[in-house]
Amino acid sequence: MRQITLTDKQCDEFNERGYIGLGVITTEEEIALMRGIYDELFAEKAGWNDGNLFDFASDEKDGEVKLPQMLKLSHYAPALAQTQFRANCEYIARQLLGPQAELVFEHAIRKPPRVGPATPWHQDEAFFNGLTDYESITFWVPLQDATIENGCMRFVPGSHRGPLFEHRSINDDPKVHGLECPEVNEATAVHAPVPMGGATIHHYRTLHAAGPNTSDGPRRAYALGFGVHGRRKPQPEFAWNVNKQTARQSRAAVAERKLSIKRVFRAVRKRLRFAAMW
Ligand code: NI
Repeated sequence: MRQITLTDKQCDEFNERGYIGLGVITTEEEIALMRGIYDELFAEKAGWNDGNLFDFASDEKDGEVKLPQMLKLSHYAPALAQTQFRANCEYIARQLLGPQAELVFEHAIRKPPRVGPATPWHQDEAFFNGLTDYESITFWVPLQDATIENGCMRFVPGSHRGPLFEHRSINDDPKVHGLECPEVNEATAVHAPVPMGGATIHHYRTLHAAGPNTSDGPRRAYALGFGVHGRRKPQPEFAWNVNKQTARQSRAAVAERKLSIKRVFRAVRKRLRFAAMW
């Protein structure tokens, strides 16, 4: 498949509205491959112990995950990093942000059939920590057609030029990872249905949401973020993130401690081996 290029008109549209919808950006074979890997990762609960799989919209109290979100998918399935799809996203990102654009995050939300809840209005920047120094755009790619029925994206055109709004944890519950922007004027919001393997691209400040999945199949969305470092000034942590106390954070902290202990053991072993040589 040839490299995908945006026309000047598409670039202007993105800059004007803060989002754009695209047709299919990779081959059918690759979409099938990505979809297979994606379903396998969610089936085997990849990343759970690392805090890289969690419930986006609830507190996981009963161990039940209603809206699973996974981070760093290609860490668990490196084949995802070798796709034409990723190369195309990078190419388009460089058209929109400049030649320094590089991958800065990767995540996925698999919305279960019939019960998959809505993803509330938010701006991606609200999830950033104080040290995040990049301006980014997100490629949101459905691995089946994304329709109003199964929860395609919605955007408020032009909101990327406005301020970052106040956010809070979903339902104002700090045990929930996901954030919501409680006061959004939906009057100008638009749905953005896209075909399987197509994409929407949005700026990190564009207000967006996704509806519930009322269809009979899962709604698989795979997202890649590309950014340019040095374009966002480090700033104090957002209160809504400081207040968070999620089960996901606890799992990530345990995993980090285990990793540190492993690193210490490895360093000690290396030293002992080095000492034995003398
Ligand atoms: Ni988002």
